[in-house]
Amino acid sequence: NERNLETTKRVNLSREIGIVHHTSHPHVLSNGCVYNLGTIVTKFGPKYCIVEFPQGKDFNEAKIVASIFPRRKLNPSYMHTFGITENFFILIEQPLAVSVKLMSQTLWKNDPLIDSLRWFGKKTTKFHILSRKSGHTERSFYAETFFFFHVINSYEEDNHIVVDICCYENPDIIKGMYLDSFRTMQTNPNYSSMFQAKPLRFVLPLNEKEDQKNCNLIKLNGSKAQAKIQKNGRILCIPEELCETSCDLPRINYSNNSGQNYRYFYAMSSDFSNGGNIIKVDVKNKTQTTWSEKNCYPGEPVFLSAPNATSEDDGVVLSVLLRGNNQENHVELLVLCAKDLKVLARCEFITPSPVPRCIIKVDVKNKTQTTWSEKNCYPGEPVFLSAPNATSEDDGVVLSVLLRGNNQENHVELLVLCAKDLKVLARCEFITPSPVPSIPPMYSV
Ligand SMILES: [Fe+2]
Repeated sequence: NERNLETTKRVNLSREIGIVHHTSHPHVLSNGCVYNLGTIVTKFGPKYCIVEFPQGKDFNEAKIVASIFPRRKLNPSYMHTFGITENFFILIEQPLAVSVKLMSQTLWKNDPLIDSLRWFGKKTTKFHILSRKSGHTERSFYAETFFFFHVINSYEEDNHIVVDICCYENPDIIKGMYLDSFRTMQTNPNYSSMFQAKPLRFVLPLNEKEDQKNCNLIKLNGSKAQAKIQKNGRILCIPEELCETSCDLPRINYSNNSGQNYRYFYAMSSDFSNGGNIIKVDVKNKTQTTWSEKNCYPGEPVFLSAPNATSEDDGVVLSVLLRGNNQENHVELLVLCAKDLKVLARCEFITPSPVPRCIIKVDVKNKTQTTWSEKNCYPGEPVFLSAPNATSEDDGVVLSVLLRGNNQENHVELLVLCAKDLKVLARCEFITPSPVPSIPPMYSV
């Protein structure tokens, strides 16, 4: 239920349409129709399939609209995302595969499923272009080996298909997600080297002719990507870099630009030298903007368009910030301006900790007091707000506006304290364009 998140019913898609798996990144079209890439098992072996969930219909009206066999029949490729354009589904069959033989062994021995993956590192990566209308394979293209999780975006332009992908040289990143790697990540100097995904643009030509052997088939204005017909008749695509910095977990202005020509994506960069970075890439001008803060580790940036947005990057980028250095109990929701990645607001959640003076709670019965203060912070009038269905007089929160001195006059915070003990429950920081004086206006004459 979209209003209260209650489960309305359960549908077993394996029973309904035979899929045994599907990706965690379905595509949601503007008409509400949802497509996902999955796998079905047939008597001739596993098959990739595209599942359509029609808008407004019951889940068990899902149907398979396209399906193809893997190039290595008993080693279907691991695919975390896929591309969709106006007319095509794009399946990118990378050389990391799930070995059916190894899988039966891991299941038998109860070993981790990851032990059934095989890396065909000397093989190419294959692009399957499937017609959305007929479900049939229209074309195939090849590229040198790469590993990927995320397609950034894909679209059609002047008889070409453009596919932007965060590409790794190999699947070593999977090793970096083991608990043992996490435990040593802060001290392992090579840890970040596993996370070097280059954002690359592959351009797939739809207009090639037989007599164009040895020529670059790409005729897109300004594109440095190449595609050449090989001796065996295959078309090998050579990508161009979208930016110099390695990054992954890309997000675009999805509701307006998925499957369409676009200009910006937002991602997490792999440069961890100063904590983590959020990066905005202009794929047209090949420029980038970054945000970082010492000891801060932002999570996947999420773009949110402004109401009545006037440009592709008119909106905000949201990210969850974690911290190291004994500040692990500080978590923030960061709100960046999507145009320049400047901080618009931040909301910090802290697990309760001892706090002294300034905001005072007085227990008139027991003549005791509790206080809250923080260096360089000037809280405004505390406002008590009762909890819904409160069970005691001080069951609620105390709100206060915090101003600051020491050249931080443009930092303003909404402070939320637990009324029982004046411990911080949450804080939301706003960075204002001009200074807000730390002496409340009523004192300035
Ligand atoms: Fe993902």
